[in-house]
Amino acid sequence: MDNDWSPVSWHDKPVTQQPAYEESDKLESVLSELGKLPPLVTSGEVLALKQRLAQAQEGKAFLLQGGDCAERFDDCTSGHISNNLKVLLQMNLVLVHGLKLPVVRIGRIAGQYAKPRSADVETRQGVSLPSYRGDFVNGPEFTAEARRPDPQRMLRGHAHSAMTMNFVRSLLDGGFADAHHPEYWDLEWMSCSPMHNEYRRLVQAIGDSVRFVEALSGDRAGGARPEFYTSHEALVLQYEQSQTRQVPRQDGWFNLSTHFPWIGMRTAHVDGAHVEYCRGVRNPIAVKVGPGLESDHLKRLLAILNPDNEPGRLTLIHRMGERNIENDLPPLIAAVCQEGARVLWCCDAMHGNTETLGNGVKTRRFENIRTELERAFDVHAACGSRLGGVHLEMTGENVTECLGGARNLREEDLARHYRSQVDPRLNCEQALELAMLIVRKHTSAAP
Ligand code: PEP
Ligand code: CO
Repeated sequence: MDNDWSPVSWHDKPVTQQPAYEESDKLESVLSELGKLPPLVTSGEVLALKQRLAQAQEGKAFLLQGGDCAERFDDCTSGHISNNLKVLLQMNLVLVHGLKLPVVRIGRIAGQYAKPRSADVETRQGVSLPSYRGDFVNGPEFTAEARRPDPQRMLRGHAHSAMTMNFVRSLLDGGFADAHHPEYWDLEWMSCSPMHNEYRRLVQAIGDSVRFVEALSGDRAGGARPEFYTSHEALVLQYEQSQTRQVPRQDGWFNLSTHFPWIGMRTAHVDGAHVEYCRGVRNPIAVKVGPGLESDHLKRLLAILNPDNEPGRLTLIHRMGERNIENDLPPLIAAVCQEGARVLWCCDAMHGNTETLGNGVKTRRFENIRTELERAFDVHAACGSRLGGVHLEMTGENVTECLGGARNLREEDLARHYRSQVDPRLNCEQALELAMLIVRKHTSAAP
């Protein structure tokens, strides 16, 4: 590690997307409290994830990363957390079975509370207020009071992350993901889904496979707690700094607020504070790369974030949009090849496909998400590269935020159960349908 890096060296770089706190003494006291609280994850888990991601880079595993666009404090409930975990684990089951590969499961969970915004202020009927930047920073209500950034929210965010983490760990310990009990996995809506039969056949086949392996080996399969990792956008750098720790018997620094922090597209400036902060922690790191990113910019990011070309260290999450991916992705793949850089390529098929309807509602079309994913497999194959994972915004709840899918949600359906304050998510049915499509596509794209 460069000796010019420290957890505060980002302070000397230009920083964007930070809350404008008004009272620095309150901020300082919150940060000092945060710095003393125990970590949410351990360095051992962080390093284990890096190894898993290295396997995915080699095509020996597949990454599934998903969850809410933004977690809400009000959604820190047993129902919301267990439904989100459930749909991720169901997708995992579909992928493991179909791809015949281990799946690296990562939630956008237990800390995904802060959002980058395109505009600092929002104006309604002539009144301008600071934009909502996620529950970590301010409230979504359009009042001056709610929109004022409040540092106390970081403490609440940390506590809610810890509660979420605790519940996730307990569910997994309690056999929540156990393939012996597919009956625990059914969600109510499945009974009226057109994909019900396909899904049930799959669950049956998985149960049969587990029993077959057990009969052969004479042992019970899958006894250990399934691995599950957390991720969030490393956005509010004061918070990330407060969770940056050294641990006994390990070199260097770890961000122990999450296993897998990522740098968002709006903060991936090579000379900026977010890249500076992330280059110094030993966690695996992801960077979002979007349309129009210059190859030289990407090459500099590769050099700064992974100078030793360490396996598993760097994931590139491309989020091009179905219209741009065929033009904009190949030069980036070529840049990575030219550098001989080890990266894991992951497709975020959500963020390039957001649109705003005439009535101001933000949505995404399932067809566009599907097309971007399918094109991602094809583009990588044509460039001699490999798509090693997917990144999705989704929830286990039966929301109506994205159009289309097996049940063909229409514009008039969106009002029925639209809950996101930020980006529209796939509902559980759409998420599972996508998992099945990934299997079909991956299998047909395999060399
Ligand atoms: C996100 O993942 O919610 C996000 C804001 O993504 P991006 O940085 O790719 O726009
Ligand atoms: Co989003």
